[in-house]
Amino acid sequence: MTKLIVANWKMNGTKESTHEFCQQITALTQETNTQNTLVICPPTPYLTLLQNDLKNSDIRLGSQDCSAAPEGAYTGDVSAEILRDIGCDYVLIGHSERRQHHKESNDLLSEKMQQALEVNLQPIFCVGESEADYEANGTHDVLTEQLKVLGAFKGNKNIIVAYEPVWAIGTGKVASPEDIQNTCAFIEKTLFNDYGLSSSILYGGSVKGDNATAILSLPAVGGVLVGGASLKAKEFWKISTAV
Ligand code: PGA
Repeated sequence: MTKLIVANWKMNGTKESTHEFCQQITALTQETNTQNTLVICPPTPYLTLLQNDLKNSDIRLGSQDCSAAPEGAYTGDVSAEILRDIGCDYVLIGHSERRQHHKESNDLLSEKMQQALEVNLQPIFCVGESEADYEANGTHDVLTEQLKVLGAFKGNKNIIVAYEPVWAIGTGKVASPEDIQNTCAFIEKTLFNDYGLSSSILYGGSVKGDNATAILSLPAVGGVLVGGASLKAKEFWKISTAV
């Protein structure tokens, strides 16, 4: 089955490192084949650079965020329509770092989802529990609350969810295969039973070349969202070709 392999570069890189990544990944894609779909979400100013460098490859582009408004007087924001216009196919919505640093609420995330879906930008809606919630066995309650945002999009077939335990992001502490399988299956079941949504569920949090095969082989996992390990073309390619 085709898996979705998404690179989230966060606020990293330079023009030079971005060109270098593109050269290396293009060379790697010419050496080996993969049936998986690869998406790169760079810092917004590098989107057009990547689009140009990767125009002869199948790698798709994504944004790390989009505005909750369609257009107008929103200094510093980038709308879903602008992202679509410059060639993005995907957008991350509700990444835990945005929830934490920008206090993004369910209401705001619902508006962002709406904007993305209106212009056919494929949203990847991110959810995940904190370490304290995990320790207190509160994972399912937290996820159920976060997934309520998707209730407004009942029946929509175009939704992808990324399960990223906050305690596993950038820490090197990856969730156990059993936890990943059970939690992704829980999310899939909740979305289907409560909202009639058939969604693909990605896992994120300290995914690396060395653990990618074990994670991507889990039946409930439709792909991975990769931060740190996606910054190096060779490592990202190792993950992309792990299954
Ligand atoms: P990480 O980040 O792979 O560096 O843990 C994942 C993410 O934040 O999406």
